[in-house]
Amino acid sequence: MTQTGIPDRMKAAQQRGFGAIDQVLTVAIDVPVPRELKSDQILVRVHAASINPIDWKILNGNLSLIQKYSWPHIPGFDCSGIVVDVGPSVKRFRIGDCVYGNVSTEGGSYAEYVRGSQKLFALKPKNLSHIEASACPLACETSYQALFNHGKVTKDSKVFICGGATATGLFGIQLAKAVGAHVATTCSERNLDILKNKLGLNIVQNPELGESLGDLLVINYQEKDFGIELNGQNYDVVYDCTGGYEQWSSAQHILKPGGKFITIVGDDKKSEINLKSILSVGSSLVNRKFWSVVNSSHPSYSLIFLRMSYEELDILRTNFFEKDLIKPIIDQTFDFDLHGLQGMYEKSKSGKARGKLVLKIVTDTDEQQETIIDK
Ligand SMILES: NC(=O)c1ccc[n+]([C@@H]2O[C@H](COP(=O)([O-])OP(=O)(O)OC[C@H]3O[C@@H](n4cnc5c(N)ncnc54)[C@H](OP(=O)(O)O)[C@@H]3O)[C@@H](O)[C@H]2O)c1
Repeated sequence: MTQTGIPDRMKAAQQRGFGAIDQVLTVAIDVPVPRELKSDQILVRVHAASINPIDWKILNGNLSLIQKYSWPHIPGFDCSGIVVDVGPSVKRFRIGDCVYGNVSTEGGSYAEYVRGSQKLFALKPKNLSHIEASACPLACETSYQALFNHGKVTKDSKVFICGGATATGLFGIQLAKAVGAHVATTCSERNLDILKNKLGLNIVQNPELGESLGDLLVINYQEKDFGIELNGQNYDVVYDCTGGYEQWSSAQHILKPGGKFITIVGDDKKSEINLKSILSVGSSLVNRKFWSVVNSSHPSYSLIFLRMSYEELDILRTNFFEKDLIKPIIDQTFDFDLHGLQGMYEKSKSGKARGKLVLKIVTDTDEQQETIIDK
């Protein structure tokens, strides 16, 4: 422990190569704390960190063609914690600030301390705990960009979300509802209660009955095809959070002429990036773009990827979280040990998460002890 109270060594998750969760993912207790800061970097004492499917896709090696790592690598994108050191040119934060952020493909959030550019962080919403805040950056900002930057959704828009009970879909429903848009979605029977009880929405399952403003029209995708159920209903935007060719195929039946199909997954749900997949995605994108360019009434197709922006995390904080218009839905929290870490990866990879999965890096007891030491 140094005079600043920041230790030299820390507990951190370590990915030791590409492969199965129980073979390449470990937890070490003697990892050097990344004390040396570049001018614009901050050091954050991580209190909680959440998993996203990209974590296990990286672990599998699905993205190895486009992202190179040296081993061991500390995984993890999303986190929430307290600033404990700042580089000389950092103006946006002071030591002691509570922040949330997405440390991007460099990773590192499954650790007691993470270092990153100040641009990767924003002040944590005051009304969220660290556990709640860590569940937000990647999934919430992705849905924000899909709906508002790409979809131009307003109160007059009709929005359909494929996968309303995915983490991204849960944020998507709330964001679109927050601006007053009409929203419909797909989800399985088992997940209906999340939309009803956790989001507090009145669920309508028969499109012919009509809906009022607080209602959410839900199609059980395991029984019905939303393209048939809502055929010709002139939606402005279909936001796809689940992937698979079938989403694009059905969406074309419900989008208005010139409507927008925005997917964050594409046809390949596993997001495997190899030469074959690049050629196949490339040719299908060209083909779908071609038809929307030559025929303006044809729906447009966009496969989008999050571009991390702290300005948007600030907008989400002030305009949405702190106004209680949106909130993270947390399925489960996990202890920061090997069992907890691997369990969190296994659950995310199963595709059965019902909201966000969060690693508790600082436990309630640790937090109390740190407060006593601070005093
Ligand atoms: N492009 C980007 O920048 C970006 C950013 C974030 C996420 N993503 C991608 O977006 C996808 C979703 O991520 P996420 O974290 O939101 O997912 P998630 O929370 O892990 O999704 C799990 C949920 O999806 C439901 N589900 C599975 N298949 C479905 C289907 N066909 N229709 C409706 N619901 C379905 C599952 O329940 P049931 O099986 O019971 O339906 C489960 O509750 C991932 O592939 C992720 O990699 C991309």
